[in-house]
Amino acid sequence: MTTVGFIGSGQIGSAIARLAIEAGHQVVLSNSRGPETLADTAAELGPRASAATSGEAAAAGDIVVVTVPVKAFPDLPAAPPAGKTVIDTCNYGHERDGHIPELDSKSLTLSELLLRYTPDAMLVKAFNNIFLGYSVVDAGSLADSWRQATGTPVWGTPYGPYSDEKGQPAGEDAIRAALATATR
Ligand SMILES: NC(=O)c1ccc[n+]([C@@H]2O[C@H](COP(=O)([O-])OP(=O)(O)OC[C@H]3O[C@@H](n4cnc5c(N)ncnc54)[C@H](OP(=O)(O)O)[C@@H]3O)[C@@H](O)[C@H]2O)c1
Repeated sequence: MTTVGFIGSGQIGSAIARLAIEAGHQVVLSNSRGPETLADTAAELGPRASAATSGEAAAAGDIVVVTVPVKAFPDLPAAPPAGKTVIDTCNYGHERDGHIPELDSKSLTLSELLLRYTPDAMLVKAFNNIFLGYSVVDAGSLADSWRQATGTPVWGTPYGPYSDEKGQPAGEDAIRAALATATR
């Protein structure tokens, strides 16, 4: 059984945790306020879910999901062990995150910024642009991950209107076409 550690257990973290449990995995949740504030969420998810500090969740996960506001990157726990897979769901927004010069100037993608805080991780950008639950398209390197950043053609749009909470599946061809038409 794979253990998935969560740094951040808000809307996206708890949704992915629920899907991970449904897929047979174990999850360790964490947030900024401490494990006691996640007791109800862990209880709802059942016996394969627990809550811990973010450092403990990062250490416990065979895979670690970082799903926090970008402004929290400097506060993330010490880098996970070298080679551990870390999934980055994060999107950048000024209203919430303030202004981060490297992102405003586009000298780094958001994932490249996160990599500075998790330098030895196998970092994968995923779930940031998608209604959850579909299959996988390889969108390229972290340097190319601007193609799936907030506001790009692939960001939400292929899955139908936001008024449809579940969204609709989009085929790989549609996703690849949307990635190809992105402009920076
Ligand atoms: N919501 C969406 O539709 C959506 C879709 C795709 C991607 N995203 C991106 O995914 C990320 C998470 O989004 P969300 O909607 O799940 O946000 P959210 O509901 O606001 O949850 C954020 C989580 O991050 C935790 N957190 C904040 N600072 C932390 C720290 N220093 N250490 C550990 N945990 C920390 C928060 O804990 P506390 O509550 O204790 O502070 C909370 O559990 C964001 O970057 C967002 O842009 C969101």
